[in-house]
Amino acid sequence: MEITTIIEKFKSLYGTQPIIARAPGRVNLIGEHTDYNDGFVLPAAVDKEIVFAMQSNGTTSVRVFSIDMQESKEFALSQLVPQQGWINYIIGVFAELAKRDVKVAGTDLVFAGDVPLGAGMSSSAALESALATGLNYLYNGGLSKLELALAAQAAEHNFAGVKCGLMDQYASIFGKTNHVIKLDCRTQQHEYYNFDFSEFMLVLCDTNVKHSLASSEYNIRRAQCESGVEIVRKKYSQIKNLRDITLDMLNEVKKDMDSVIFNRCEYVIEENDRVEKACKALTSNDFATFGQLMYQSHEGLQHKYEVSCPELDYLVELARKNPHVLGARMMGGGFGGCTINLIHRNAVDDFVEKTATAYHQKTGLEMKAYRVKIGDGARIEKI
Ligand code: GLA
Repeated sequence: MEITTIIEKFKSLYGTQPIIARAPGRVNLIGEHTDYNDGFVLPAAVDKEIVFAMQSNGTTSVRVFSIDMQESKEFALSQLVPQQGWINYIIGVFAELAKRDVKVAGTDLVFAGDVPLGAGMSSSAALESALATGLNYLYNGGLSKLELALAAQAAEHNFAGVKCGLMDQYASIFGKTNHVIKLDCRTQQHEYYNFDFSEFMLVLCDTNVKHSLASSEYNIRRAQCESGVEIVRKKYSQIKNLRDITLDMLNEVKKDMDSVIFNRCEYVIEENDRVEKACKALTSNDFATFGQLMYQSHEGLQHKYEVSCPELDYLVELARKNPHVLGARMMGGGFGGCTINLIHRNAVDDFVEKTATAYHQKTGLEMKAYRVKIGDGARIEKI
Protein backbone atom coordinates (compact mmCIF):
# COMPACT_ATOMS: atom_id res chain seq x y z
CA MET A 1 0.00 0.00 0.00
CA GLU A 2 1.14 3.49 -0.86
CA ILE A 3 1.63 5.28 2.45
CA THR A 4 2.62 8.73 1.15
CA THR A 5 -1.02 9.62 0.35
CA ILE A 6 -2.00 8.73 3.91
CA ILE A 7 0.82 10.80 5.40
CA GLU A 8 0.04 13.77 3.16
CA LYS A 9 -3.63 13.62 4.05
CA PHE A 10 -2.76 13.45 7.73
CA LYS A 11 -0.49 16.49 7.53
CA SER A 12 -3.01 18.53 5.57
CA LEU A 13 -5.81 17.73 8.02
CA TYR A 14 -3.99 18.03 11.33
CA GLY A 15 -0.65 19.72 10.63
CA THR A 16 1.49 17.32 12.70
CA GLN A 17 3.90 14.49 11.90
CA PRO A 18 2.27 11.04 12.30
CA ILE A 19 3.62 7.60 13.04
CA ILE A 20 2.52 4.75 10.74
CA ALA A 21 1.05 1.42 11.88
CA ARG A 22 -0.04 -1.26 9.46
CA ALA A 23 -1.59 -4.73 9.69
CA PRO A 24 -2.68 -7.29 7.09
CA GLY A 25 -5.77 -9.34 6.35
CA ARG A 26 -5.47 -13.12 6.46
CA VAL A 27 -6.25 -16.34 4.67
CA ASN A 28 -6.88 -19.64 6.42
CA LEU A 29 -5.62 -22.80 4.76
CA ILE A 30 -7.43 -25.25 6.99
CA GLY A 31 -9.01 -25.39 10.47
CA GLU A 32 -12.34 -23.59 10.16
CA HIS A 33 -14.62 -22.91 13.13
CA THR A 34 -12.10 -24.64 15.36
CA ASP A 35 -10.57 -21.56 16.99
CA TYR A 36 -13.40 -20.84 19.44
CA ASN A 37 -13.41 -24.54 20.35
CA ASP A 38 -9.81 -24.35 21.62
CA GLY A 39 -8.64 -26.19 18.52
CA PHE A 40 -6.04 -25.71 15.77
CA VAL A 41 -6.02 -23.33 12.80
CA LEU A 42 -3.57 -22.72 9.95
CA PRO A 43 -3.86 -19.11 8.79
CA ALA A 44 -1.37 -16.76 7.14
CA ALA A 45 -1.18 -12.99 6.76
CA VAL A 46 -1.64 -11.61 3.24
CA ASP A 47 0.02 -8.67 1.50
CA LYS A 48 -3.17 -6.61 1.70
CA GLU A 49 -3.35 -4.26 4.66
CA ILE A 50 -4.96 -1.48 6.61
CA VAL A 51 -2.61 1.43 7.27
CA PHE A 52 -3.03 4.10 9.94
CA ALA A 53 -1.27 7.43 10.32
CA MET A 54 -1.67 8.64 13.90
CA GLN A 55 -0.49 11.16 16.45
CA SER A 56 -1.68 12.40 19.81
CA ASN A 57 -3.47 15.75 19.63
CA GLY A 58 -3.36 17.09 23.19
CA THR A 59 -7.15 16.94 23.62
CA THR A 60 -9.52 14.32 25.04
CA SER A 61 -11.11 13.53 21.66
CA VAL A 62 -10.29 11.22 18.79
CA ARG A 63 -10.57 12.56 15.24
CA VAL A 64 -10.58 10.04 12.39
CA PHE A 65 -10.59 10.36 8.63
CA SER A 66 -11.22 7.32 6.42
CA ILE A 67 -9.67 7.80 2.97
CA ASP A 68 -11.68 4.94 1.46
CA MET A 69 -14.98 6.21 2.83
CA GLN A 70 -14.01 9.89 2.42
CA GLU A 71 -15.64 10.47 5.77
CA SER A 72 -14.52 11.97 9.05
CA LYS A 73 -15.77 11.16 12.55
CA GLU A 74 -14.98 12.27 16.06
CA PHE A 75 -15.63 10.85 19.53
CA ALA A 76 -14.71 11.71 23.10
CA LEU A 77 -12.57 9.37 25.18
CA SER A 78 -15.17 9.69 27.92
CA GLN A 79 -17.74 8.11 25.52
CA LEU A 80 -16.24 4.76 24.56
CA VAL A 81 -19.54 3.04 23.76
CA PRO A 82 -20.68 1.13 20.65
CA GLN A 83 -21.91 3.13 17.64
CA GLN A 84 -23.15 2.22 14.17
CA GLY A 85 -20.75 2.00 11.23
CA TRP A 86 -16.99 1.68 10.81
CA ILE A 87 -16.23 4.02 13.71
CA ASN A 88 -17.41 1.25 16.04
CA TYR A 89 -14.22 -0.75 15.37
CA ILE A 90 -12.06 2.26 16.21
CA ILE A 91 -13.93 3.02 19.44
CA GLY A 92 -13.73 -0.67 20.36
CA VAL A 93 -9.94 -0.74 20.15
CA PHE A 94 -9.55 2.45 22.20
CA ALA A 95 -11.88 0.98 24.83
CA GLU A 96 -10.11 -2.38 25.00
CA LEU A 97 -6.65 -0.83 25.28
CA ALA A 98 -7.88 1.55 27.99
CA LYS A 99 -9.24 -1.48 29.90
CA ARG A 100 -5.74 -2.96 29.72
CA ASP A 101 -4.25 0.19 31.29
CA VAL A 102 -2.79 1.68 28.13
CA LYS A 103 -2.91 5.44 28.73
CA VAL A 104 -4.67 6.32 25.47
CA ALA A 105 -5.12 10.07 25.01
CA GLY A 106 -6.74 12.31 22.39
CA THR A 107 -5.53 11.12 18.98
CA ASP A 108 -5.74 12.09 15.29
CA LEU A 109 -6.05 9.27 12.78
CA VAL A 110 -6.13 8.83 9.01
CA PHE A 111 -6.48 5.34 7.57
CA ALA A 112 -6.87 3.49 4.30
CA GLY A 113 -6.63 -0.11 3.14
CA ASP A 114 -6.70 -2.57 0.30
CA VAL A 115 -8.11 -5.61 2.14
CA PRO A 116 -11.30 -6.38 0.18
CA LEU A 117 -14.37 -5.80 2.35
CA GLY A 118 -16.77 -8.68 2.97
CA ALA A 119 -14.57 -11.18 1.12
CA GLY A 120 -13.66 -13.10 4.28
CA MET A 121 -10.08 -11.80 4.45
CA SER A 122 -10.72 -10.17 7.83
CA SER A 123 -10.53 -6.51 7.00
CA SER A 124 -11.93 -5.79 10.46
CA ALA A 125 -9.17 -7.77 12.20
CA ALA A 126 -6.61 -5.91 10.08
CA LEU A 127 -8.08 -2.59 11.17
CA GLU A 128 -8.21 -3.58 14.85
CA SER A 129 -4.68 -5.04 14.83
CA ALA A 130 -3.14 -2.03 13.07
CA LEU A 131 -4.80 0.43 15.41
CA ALA A 132 -3.98 -1.59 18.55
CA THR A 133 -0.33 -1.92 17.46
CA GLY A 134 -0.10 1.80 16.71
CA LEU A 135 -1.69 2.98 19.95
CA ASN A 136 0.42 0.59 22.02
CA TYR A 137 3.51 2.14 20.41
CA LEU A 138 2.32 5.75 20.61
CA TYR A 139 1.35 5.55 24.28
CA ASN A 140 4.06 3.12 25.46
CA GLY A 141 1.45 0.60 26.45
CA GLY A 142 3.92 -2.24 26.83
CA LEU A 143 1.40 -4.88 25.69
CA SER A 144 2.84 -8.03 24.12
CA LYS A 145 1.79 -9.17 20.64
CA LEU A 146 -0.50 -11.77 22.19
CA GLU A 147 -2.10 -9.16 24.45
CA LEU A 148 -2.68 -6.95 21.42
CA ALA A 149 -4.34 -9.80 19.53
CA LEU A 150 -6.57 -10.52 22.54
CA ALA A 151 -7.49 -6.83 22.88
CA ALA A 152 -8.37 -6.67 19.16
CA GLN A 153 -10.50 -9.82 19.51
CA ALA A 154 -12.25 -8.32 22.55
CA ALA A 155 -13.10 -5.23 20.47
CA GLU A 156 -14.86 -7.55 18.00
CA HIS A 157 -16.77 -9.30 20.81
CA ASN A 158 -17.79 -6.26 22.82
CA PHE A 159 -18.34 -3.73 20.06
CA ALA A 160 -19.08 -5.55 16.77
CA GLY A 161 -21.02 -8.24 18.69
CA VAL A 162 -19.42 -11.25 16.95
CA LYS A 163 -18.08 -13.84 19.38
CA CYS A 164 -15.18 -14.66 17.07
CA GLY A 165 -12.21 -16.84 17.94
CA LEU A 166 -8.64 -15.58 18.05
CA MET A 167 -7.50 -16.68 14.58
CA ASP A 168 -7.95 -13.49 12.55
CA GLN A 169 -6.35 -11.04 14.94
CA TYR A 170 -3.58 -13.50 15.79
CA ALA A 171 -2.71 -14.04 12.12
CA SER A 172 -2.79 -10.32 11.44
CA ILE A 173 -0.31 -9.71 14.25
CA PHE A 174 1.97 -12.76 14.00
CA GLY A 175 2.08 -13.13 10.18
CA LYS A 176 5.43 -13.94 8.57
CA THR A 177 6.32 -13.78 4.87
CA ASN A 178 5.98 -17.16 3.11
CA HIS A 179 4.97 -18.95 6.31
CA VAL A 180 1.69 -20.30 7.57
CA ILE A 181 0.93 -20.19 11.27
CA LYS A 182 -0.21 -23.27 13.12
CA LEU A 183 -1.96 -21.75 16.10
CA ASP A 184 -3.00 -23.84 19.05
CA CYS A 185 -5.95 -21.82 20.31
CA ARG A 186 -5.80 -23.47 23.72
CA THR A 187 -2.22 -22.59 24.59
CA GLN A 188 -2.31 -19.49 22.36
CA GLN A 189 1.08 -20.44 21.00
CA HIS A 190 2.13 -21.05 17.43
CA GLU A 191 4.61 -22.73 15.14
CA TYR A 192 5.52 -21.39 11.69
CA TYR A 193 5.56 -23.71 8.69
CA ASN A 194 7.37 -22.74 5.55
CA PHE A 195 5.04 -22.83 2.56
CA ASP A 196 6.94 -23.61 -0.61
CA PHE A 197 5.34 -21.64 -3.43
CA SER A 198 7.69 -22.68 -6.23
CA GLU A 199 5.17 -25.00 -7.90
CA PHE A 200 1.86 -23.95 -6.41
CA MET A 201 -0.21 -20.90 -5.75
CA LEU A 202 -3.06 -20.10 -3.40
CA VAL A 203 -5.92 -18.36 -5.17
CA LEU A 204 -9.05 -16.96 -3.59
CA CYS A 205 -12.24 -17.02 -5.62
CA ASP A 206 -14.66 -14.42 -4.32
CA THR A 207 -18.34 -15.34 -4.65
CA ASN A 208 -19.25 -11.69 -4.33
CA VAL A 209 -22.05 -12.63 -1.95
CA LYS A 210 -22.37 -12.10 1.78
CA HIS A 211 -25.56 -13.65 3.09
CA SER A 212 -27.00 -11.80 6.05
CA LEU A 213 -27.02 -14.98 8.14
CA ALA A 214 -23.28 -14.75 8.67
CA SER A 215 -23.00 -13.18 12.11
CA SER A 216 -26.18 -14.58 13.67
CA GLU A 217 -25.42 -18.14 12.52
CA TYR A 218 -21.84 -17.75 13.73
CA ASN A 219 -22.95 -17.17 17.31
CA ILE A 220 -25.48 -20.01 16.98
CA ARG A 221 -22.73 -22.46 15.91
CA ARG A 222 -20.70 -21.45 18.91
CA ALA A 223 -23.62 -22.12 21.22
CA GLN A 224 -24.34 -25.48 19.54
CA CYS A 225 -20.76 -26.62 20.16
CA GLU A 226 -21.08 -25.62 23.80
CA SER A 227 -24.33 -27.53 24.22
CA GLY A 228 -22.69 -30.64 22.70
CA VAL A 229 -19.88 -30.34 25.22
CA GLU A 230 -22.44 -30.10 28.07
CA ILE A 231 -23.89 -33.47 27.06
CA VAL A 232 -20.51 -35.21 26.83
CA ARG A 233 -19.54 -33.68 30.17
CA LYS A 234 -22.34 -35.59 31.91
CA LYS A 235 -20.32 -38.72 31.20
CA TYR A 236 -16.80 -37.27 31.23
CA SER A 237 -16.77 -34.56 33.85
CA GLN A 238 -13.15 -33.52 33.25
CA ILE A 239 -13.60 -32.23 29.70
CA LYS A 240 -13.53 -28.50 29.08
CA ASN A 241 -14.48 -28.25 25.42
CA LEU A 242 -14.45 -30.01 22.05
CA ARG A 243 -10.67 -30.14 22.06
CA ASP A 244 -10.85 -32.76 24.82
CA ILE A 245 -13.41 -34.97 23.10
CA THR A 246 -12.54 -37.87 20.81
CA LEU A 247 -14.85 -39.29 18.16
CA ASP A 248 -15.28 -42.40 20.34
CA MET A 249 -16.42 -40.33 23.30
CA LEU A 250 -18.84 -38.42 21.07
CA ASN A 251 -20.26 -41.63 19.64
CA GLU A 252 -20.87 -42.97 23.13
CA VAL A 253 -23.37 -40.19 23.79
CA LYS A 254 -24.81 -40.02 20.28
CA LYS A 255 -28.19 -41.31 21.40
CA ASP A 256 -28.53 -38.48 23.94
CA MET A 257 -27.81 -35.82 21.38
CA ASP A 258 -29.85 -34.04 18.77
CA SER A 259 -28.42 -35.02 15.35
CA VAL A 260 -27.65 -31.39 14.45
CA ILE A 261 -25.54 -30.94 17.59
CA PHE A 262 -23.85 -34.27 16.93
CA ASN A 263 -22.89 -33.20 13.41
CA ARG A 264 -21.51 -29.87 14.59
CA CYS A 265 -19.30 -31.58 17.18
CA GLU A 266 -18.20 -34.33 14.84
CA TYR A 267 -17.14 -31.78 12.24
CA VAL A 268 -14.99 -29.82 14.72
CA ILE A 269 -13.24 -32.94 16.07
CA GLU A 270 -12.50 -34.12 12.53
CA GLU A 271 -11.33 -30.68 11.41
CA ASN A 272 -8.80 -30.47 14.26
CA ASP A 273 -7.42 -33.79 13.14
CA ARG A 274 -7.18 -32.50 9.56
CA VAL A 275 -5.08 -29.52 10.68
CA GLU A 276 -2.59 -31.88 12.32
CA LYS A 277 -2.47 -34.02 9.18
CA ALA A 278 -2.13 -30.96 6.93
CA CYS A 279 0.89 -29.78 8.92
CA LYS A 280 2.51 -33.19 8.59
CA ALA A 281 1.86 -33.06 4.85
CA LEU A 282 3.48 -29.62 4.65
CA THR A 283 6.59 -30.86 6.40
CA SER A 284 7.05 -33.51 3.75
CA ASN A 285 5.97 -31.22 0.86
CA ASP A 286 3.05 -33.55 0.21
CA PHE A 287 0.72 -31.05 -1.44
CA ALA A 288 -1.53 -33.76 -2.87
CA THR A 289 -2.51 -34.86 0.64
CA PHE A 290 -2.79 -31.27 1.76
CA GLY A 291 -5.24 -30.59 -1.07
CA GLN A 292 -7.38 -33.63 -0.26
CA LEU A 293 -7.67 -32.44 3.33
CA MET A 294 -8.94 -29.09 2.04
CA TYR A 295 -11.68 -30.84 0.06
CA GLN A 296 -12.63 -32.88 3.12
CA SER A 297 -12.80 -29.72 5.18
CA HIS A 298 -15.26 -28.24 2.70
CA GLU A 299 -17.41 -31.38 2.79
CA GLY A 300 -17.66 -31.08 6.54
CA LEU A 301 -18.43 -27.36 6.47
CA GLN A 302 -21.09 -27.94 3.83
CA HIS A 303 -22.88 -30.97 5.23
CA LYS A 304 -22.10 -31.22 8.94
CA TYR A 305 -21.40 -27.68 10.09
CA GLU A 306 -23.75 -26.17 7.48
CA VAL A 307 -22.07 -22.80 7.06
CA SER A 308 -21.54 -22.93 3.31
CA CYS A 309 -23.90 -21.60 0.61
CA PRO A 310 -24.72 -22.60 -2.99
CA GLU A 311 -22.28 -20.08 -4.48
CA LEU A 312 -19.34 -21.43 -2.43
CA ASP A 313 -20.34 -25.02 -3.14
CA TYR A 314 -20.45 -24.35 -6.86
CA LEU A 315 -16.95 -22.83 -6.86
CA VAL A 316 -15.59 -25.87 -5.01
CA GLU A 317 -17.40 -28.18 -7.44
CA LEU A 318 -15.70 -26.39 -10.36
CA ALA A 319 -12.32 -26.71 -8.64
CA ARG A 320 -12.84 -30.45 -8.13
CA LYS A 321 -13.35 -30.91 -11.86
CA ASN A 322 -10.06 -29.21 -12.70
CA PRO A 323 -7.10 -31.63 -12.53
CA HIS A 324 -4.67 -28.78 -11.81
CA VAL A 325 -6.39 -27.88 -8.55
CA LEU A 326 -5.09 -29.93 -5.62
CA GLY A 327 -7.65 -28.74 -3.10
CA ALA A 328 -10.34 -26.13 -2.46
CA ARG A 329 -12.66 -25.13 0.34
CA MET A 330 -14.74 -22.28 1.63
CA MET A 331 -12.75 -19.97 3.88
CA GLY A 332 -13.69 -18.07 7.03
CA GLY A 333 -17.04 -17.86 8.78
CA GLY A 334 -19.06 -18.91 5.71
CA PHE A 335 -22.34 -17.90 4.03
CA GLY A 336 -20.38 -16.07 1.33
CA GLY A 337 -16.91 -14.66 0.87
CA CYS A 338 -14.18 -16.68 -0.81
CA THR A 339 -13.03 -20.18 -1.55
CA ILE A 340 -9.33 -20.89 -1.15
CA ASN A 341 -7.76 -23.01 -3.89
CA LEU A 342 -4.36 -24.72 -4.06
CA ILE A 343 -3.40 -24.75 -7.74
CA HIS A 344 -0.45 -25.65 -9.96
CA ARG A 345 1.15 -22.30 -10.66
CA ASN A 346 1.13 -22.54 -14.45
CA ALA A 347 -2.56 -23.45 -14.56
CA VAL A 348 -3.80 -20.48 -12.52
CA ASP A 349 -4.75 -18.09 -15.34
CA ASP A 350 -6.71 -20.73 -17.19
CA PHE A 351 -8.47 -21.85 -13.99
CA VAL A 352 -9.46 -18.30 -13.06
CA GLU A 353 -10.84 -17.55 -16.50
CA LYS A 354 -12.85 -20.75 -16.83
CA THR A 355 -14.16 -20.63 -13.28
CA ALA A 356 -15.25 -17.00 -13.57
CA THR A 357 -17.09 -17.71 -16.82
CA ALA A 358 -18.89 -20.77 -15.46
CA TYR A 359 -19.74 -18.94 -12.23
CA HIS A 360 -21.19 -16.02 -14.14
CA GLN A 361 -23.27 -18.31 -16.35
CA LYS A 362 -24.72 -20.13 -13.38
CA THR A 363 -25.29 -17.26 -10.94
CA GLY A 364 -25.21 -14.07 -13.00
CA LEU A 365 -22.53 -12.81 -10.57
CA GLU A 366 -18.99 -11.62 -11.21
CA MET A 367 -16.31 -13.71 -9.54
CA LYS A 368 -13.18 -11.90 -8.42
CA ALA A 369 -9.89 -13.78 -8.00
CA TYR A 370 -7.05 -12.88 -5.65
CA ARG A 371 -3.62 -14.47 -6.08
CA VAL A 372 -2.39 -14.75 -2.51
CA LYS A 373 1.01 -13.51 -1.39
CA ILE A 374 1.87 -14.30 2.22
CA GLY A 375 3.26 -11.27 4.00
CA ASP A 376 4.34 -10.01 7.42
CA GLY A 377 2.14 -9.20 10.40
CA ALA A 378 1.34 -5.89 12.09
CA ARG A 379 4.17 -3.42 12.46
CA ILE A 380 5.21 0.16 12.97
CA GLU A 381 6.67 1.68 9.82
CA LYS A 382 9.68 3.90 10.26
CA ILE A 383 9.27 7.10 8.23
C1 GLA B 1 -14.37 -15.85 11.41
C2 GLA B 1 -13.91 -15.60 12.84
C3 GLA B 1 -12.72 -16.51 13.21
C4 GLA B 1 -13.05 -17.97 12.89
C5 GLA B 1 -13.61 -18.11 11.47
C6 GLA B 1 -14.08 -19.51 11.19
O1 GLA B 1 -13.37 -15.46 10.51
O2 GLA B 1 -13.55 -14.25 13.01
O3 GLA B 1 -12.41 -16.35 14.57
O4 GLA B 1 -13.89 -18.52 13.83
O5 GLA B 1 -14.68 -17.22 11.22
O6 GLA B 1 -13.03 -20.40 11.22
